[in-house]
Amino acid sequence: MEALVIEGGRPLQGEVAVGGAKNAVLPMMAACLLVPGPIHIRNVPRLRDVVTFLALLREMGVAGGYEDHSLFLDARRVTSHEAPYDHVKKMRASIYVLGPLLARFGKARVSLPGGCAWGPRPVNLHLDAMRALGAQLALDHGYVVAEAKRLRGARIAFDISSVGATGNAMMAAVLAEGTTVIENAACEPEMEALADFLCALGARIDGTGTKTITIEGVPELKPVDDYVNIPDRIEAGTFLAAGAITGGDVTVTHVRPDHLSMVLALMERMGCRLEVGDDRIRITVPEGRLRSTDVVTEPYPGFPTDLQAQFMALLCVADGAGVVTDTIYPDRFTHVPELQRLGARITLSGNAVTVEGRARLQGARLMATDSRAGSALILGGLAAAGHTTVSRIYHIDRGYEAIETRLAQLGAQIERIRVEGP
Ligand code: UD1
Repeated sequence: MEALVIEGGRPLQGEVAVGGAKNAVLPMMAACLLVPGPIHIRNVPRLRDVVTFLALLREMGVAGGYEDHSLFLDARRVTSHEAPYDHVKKMRASIYVLGPLLARFGKARVSLPGGCAWGPRPVNLHLDAMRALGAQLALDHGYVVAEAKRLRGARIAFDISSVGATGNAMMAAVLAEGTTVIENAACEPEMEALADFLCALGARIDGTGTKTITIEGVPELKPVDDYVNIPDRIEAGTFLAAGAITGGDVTVTHVRPDHLSMVLALMERMGCRLEVGDDRIRITVPEGRLRSTDVVTEPYPGFPTDLQAQFMALLCVADGAGVVTDTIYPDRFTHVPELQRLGARITLSGNAVTVEGRARLQGARLMATDSRAGSALILGGLAAAGHTTVSRIYHIDRGYEAIETRLAQLGAQIERIRVEGP
């Protein structure tokens, strides 16, 4: 197993390029199942989830390869319509194959994902959307077995805004007969990117980036060459947080600042100075210490749940107290006891966490529990005096490509080591 060893207390300085968005490329990979021909996507991060998804697609008969941040996929011949438990339990995003398989082949057998460290994370909305489009669903030994002759356009009104269910519904509806209207659709940039990708394949979709998406079904989609994925806003936010927590001077490049409006507004409220260009953001902390604030996560354009843990790390060293509330995943707080090991003053009451900032944290041995929570522990380590070791970093590697190399490029003292046990 591997761990990261950090010697904290150094202000980070310099430039770091943000990679492609994982949560945009995973549904795009599933969407390749809709097309009987070759597809080339660029700006794809080298992450374990991408490799896992590629392995799943290959098991289904899709020809595919990954090289130099480019993905090549060809779903001309698909020999299996099943997403087995072993894949889905490793990566919940495997559920994205449900919509495309049903739309193109009229059948799919997809394992239910089961529980998750953040709470129950059900998939009922994905299934409701498929039923609305005319699919018959049955449960067979932990698998959803879905069938339809040809999906029919329908009105799908979600009672909760769900990224995954919106993506699955869109991918299913692009080949359905007639018009589909998705109401209370997720507006996240990753869904806008998926819609843009589907349109590049010949789909007809209106209203993306708004809460009402209209899709006119088409009989077939066509291949696309050289499609460029969007930058990862969560990675960008994490590197900006690394600049802020160390009182450094960091510029993130290859970003879409418009995808980070709420995040940047919160950073300004915390006393950060931002210089925002077309595709770059520079962050400094003129007063030397961050100011505390409350953080509430909400569906986009609200503050993202995937940056909640990282901002909690900022509050741990900020001046004053702030309350963190996650309205998307009310229990997503596995990082709290780990941050407490660094000396952070955090109290958990129901679903609200109060963080009382202190001037200094102390290095300690920590364990990552998921990718974003893990990156928050790195941030804590960067701000703490002495050594911090973060173990179980395979979680962090799911969301960040070579994070230690890129932080070291900014002057962080950070090293990946091999350790015994998990
Ligand atoms: C995606 C992201 C994840 C992010 C999350 C919220 C990917 C691969 N993952 O996850 O990083 O944290 O969006 O921005 O893109 N819900 C239901 N029933 C469903 C589906 C969802 O009740 O069928 C609920 C969830 O429990 C949650 C809320 O809806 O409370 C939003 O979840 P959703 O947007 O679906 O998250 P994911 O797509 O799984």
